[in-house]
Parts: sequence; structure tokens; C-alpha cells
Amino acid sequence: MSIVSQLESRRQEGRLRSLRTTKGLIDFCSNDYLGFARDIESGEGRGLGTMGSTGSRLITGNSSYVEELEQFIADYHDAECGLIFNSGYDANLGLFSSVPQRGDTVLFDEYCHASIRDGLRLGYCRSHSFPHNDLESLERLLLRAEGNVFVAVESVYSMDGTFADLAALVSLAEKHKARLIVDEAHATGLFGERGQGRVVELNLQARVYARIHTFGKALGRHGAIVLGDQNLRVFLINYARSFIYTTSLPESALMGVKSAYDKLSKINFKELKLRRLQGLFTKLVEECSALDLIESFSPIQGLICGSNTLAKSLSQALENEGIFVYPILSPTVPKGTERLRICMHEFNTEDEVLRLVNCLKLAKK
Ligand SMILES: Cc1ncc(COP(=O)(O)O)c(C=O)c1O
Repeated sequence: MSIVSQLESRRQEGRLRSLRTTKGLIDFCSNDYLGFARDIESGEGRGLGTMGSTGSRLITGNSSYVEELEQFIADYHDAECGLIFNSGYDANLGLFSSVPQRGDTVLFDEYCHASIRDGLRLGYCRSHSFPHNDLESLERLLLRAEGNVFVAVESVYSMDGTFADLAALVSLAEKHKARLIVDEAHATGLFGERGQGRVVELNLQARVYARIHTFGKALGRHGAIVLGDQNLRVFLINYARSFIYTTSLPESALMGVKSAYDKLSKINFKELKLRRLQGLFTKLVEECSALDLIESFSPIQGLICGSNTLAKSLSQALENEGIFVYPILSPTVPKGTERLRICMHEFNTEDEVLRLVNCLKLAKK
């Protein structure tokens, strides 16, 4: 059944869930037993805001503030509307477990995040992975896919920093009447003229069914939003269990998200230092034949080690020199591709990059 007809039958049965605000009412409902959620947090960069939301969005945890913020963020990313979840994990869990249904098919890149896979495992649709960025394999699967068909990708892959070919994916999805879902966790705040992500950077927003933007990466906050059309939003409010059955984010956290977007809108993306550092890092590593880098045009740089033992010992050697780089081991990544995942930041310095590469060279010897 399509999500629109499912919503319509729920409406007719008088069971449609909708959000409302309860401000100004005497509270005999919330879970704020000791009143602690009313505490106000203030401080630099934090603004003012209550520390707790007191309940789930459908009961006492909704506010005009969060609804306005959802629309503000949707506008920022040029989407019709959005729904905030407590984390990117919750957003993917809710979306992928509810929207694709029994008889539907989801085809996802093998490098997709655990939250997408876990969402699919909680739902009832069929799902198949395709080899990383292999659009020919994807097309073969699309030809056999049944029901409503969805394709799930990340615009920047979290473990390699590689890009999905979004323009080609959109065309392929359209050709086979499939809907494209793009997780923009590692593109949010980094790509596009105002950090809106790669979908907007490539002007594909009208052709993508849903996007997931997380606030815990480049935005330095917490939570996530699913962007899409009104039907999708109402459907998630009604069926996404990771949205329905959890205490919502407090006002203080939401204000933090708003302040991050305000900062983002003032950044000159052409002048980002982390791009220069990224260039410096790749240049230095490429000059050294002993180091094997995965090609990536994002701040995520993967240095292949080839075994868990080498990845762990290189990470330890860097830590001994005061540098923290996390080793990514199998089975998180396929055997033989164990790596160091190196992330460039705006606050890193050229000196730090030089030190990092020198330490890597010495440790590798
Ligand atoms: C691609 C991707 N999607 C979703 C998530 C989950 O986001 P969050 O940390 O906000 O739960 C992550 C986090 O690691 C991620 O890398």
C-alpha cells in the first residue's frame, strides 16, 4: 500500500497521529516528575533553553520552536519540510523500518551505515546491497526489484570519504521508477554554497525522495532531520517508531542546532581551511610510496593498512606522539581494507598535518 493511502485509511478510522503544542496548560501529563526539565541552561554559544523536553513529540515534547526549526532547516536545504529525530541513527532506523513495506524493495550501497541496515532489519521489505558505487550491478538489481523500489546511498561515505555519483544515481532511479534516499551525514555543513550538502550542490533536490542530515558531524551538535514532502513527514510521525516512542530533544539542544545553522550561513565555503589541509595531506601522502591512500575529495581520508594488527599498531604509534587517529578494523570494513580513518578539521594546523604525515612515515618503516 502506498504511504498516502495508508495515511488516508488511518485518517478515516480516526487514528491519525498529529503533533500539537501544550504550552500554557497545567501539566499533569509529562514525565518531568521533579521539574528538572524546566531548568534553564545559559552560557556562551548556548543561548537560553529548557534542559528537557518532558516527553515524546506526540505527547508533551512538541513545541512551536521545534516545528519552526524543522521548517527553517528544510528551507535551508531547499526541501518541502522535515522531521527532527534524536539522532541520525534514530532517523535512519525510523525511515527505513517504516516507509519501505512488505512487498517493497530497498537496494543499498554495501558501504551504507549500520543505521540504514538496522532500519531495514526492523522492517518487512526485501533488501539487497550492491557493490560500492557499482551502478551496473545496481541496474541489474533494479530490473528485478518488486513493489515500491528505493535506492539508499550516502553522499559521502563515512569510512572512505568517497562520493556517490548522485547525478547518475538520480537518473538511474528515475529510469526504473525508484526513489532515491540520500544520507548526507558527512556532507552536511561541508558541501554546497552554504553547506547544504551534495544534493543541493548538484541541484538534485527536486529529484531525491528523502535526505538525512545529521547535526552531530560538521555542525557539532546532536540530532538529525529527515527532509522530504508533507506525506513523508506525516507518515513518519505516524509510523516511525524511533520518532514516536522516545523523549524528544530539549529546547537547549534545538537552540544549539539553530545556532550551528546560523554560524554555517556565515561561512565562506571557498575559503575553508580544511580544504587546504586536505590538499596538503593528500599531496604529502602521495609523495610517499609506503602510504596507500583511498582517493577521496572529502575531509575523510582513509589510509589502507591491510590488517587489523597494522592498523592498531600505527594508531598506537601516533598516539604515542600525541596524535589521535582511530583504526577502523574488520569486520567494520572488509578484510584486507583495515585502515586509519583520518579526518581534517578547520581547527587543525599545517604543522599538525606535517607532524601527522612524518609520524606515519616513521611508524610505517
Ligand atoms: C552515514 C551516517 N549516517 C548516520 C549516522 C548516525 O548519526 P548519529 O551519530 O547522529 O546517530 C552516522 C554516524 O556515524 C553516519 O556516519
